[in-house]
Amino acid sequence: MSTRIDVVTLFPEMIREACRWGIPRIAQEKQLLELGLWNPRDYTDDRNRRVDDRPYGGGPGMVMQVQPVHAAIEAARGDGPVIYLSPQGRRFDQSAAKRFARLPHMVLLAGRYEGIDERLIEQDVDEEWSIGDYVLSGGEPAALVWIDAIARLLPGALGDGDSAEQDSFMDGLLDYPHYSRPEVIDGKAVPAVLLGGNHADIERWRHKQSLGRTWERRPDLLEQLQLSDEQKALLEEYIREQHTTDSDKGP
Ligand code: ADE
Repeated sequence: MSTRIDVVTLFPEMIREACRWGIPRIAQEKQLLELGLWNPRDYTDDRNRRVDDRPYGGGPGMVMQVQPVHAAIEAARGDGPVIYLSPQGRRFDQSAAKRFARLPHMVLLAGRYEGIDERLIEQDVDEEWSIGDYVLSGGEPAALVWIDAIARLLPGALGDGDSAEQDSFMDGLLDYPHYSRPEVIDGKAVPAVLLGGNHADIERWRHKQSLGRTWERRPDLLEQLQLSDEQKALLEEYIREQHTTDSDKGP
């Protein structure tokens, strides 16, 4: 099964170019991901190919008009939802990415200027999503974030079959630290457990680091989880170890 993502955008090249790299490229080459790009400027009735106009009520900037955006959405439309990317939307996260990665089709609508005429959103948009609490100058970077997060979840897109499963956030926790050669840099050694070759010990250490980092950096994520007794014990061990290391450092 493959996923098709159609993007309605005034800057299709931005999406096309960025998706020529990394996992989105590989996913397309393996025909797991199909991208379609639709420019409202190609669908405008206006003689001068205009797609925007001044806002009623005044104020800065321009508003994207209903007619060209609606026509582009109609051209892009398939069986899946039409998703408008904007700071007013629901927050995109890993569980949303998992949900959308299971869909065969979706249309992403990337806005520019001050926004899109509200009547278009009421009429044509099924869901509104934001990639975070900040304002981008257009929806294209958000569409790229969306496409990347989904492409890497498509079965077969990542080289190692289960590496998406091992990701940060897949189980609601932050990632553990990673190390590669050399074994020592400027006196800083790789944790000994990773050199020992005992896979059960390594798993346990990594899980403890994930729990500990989430506790330190994103307690809000931890609150959403029901930790098992084993996980609680691991986290307590992490906290104890932090205290010992801190006091070892001396005043
Ligand atoms: N367009 C502008 N800002 C955005 C954001 N934070 N998320 C999604 N789309 C956007």
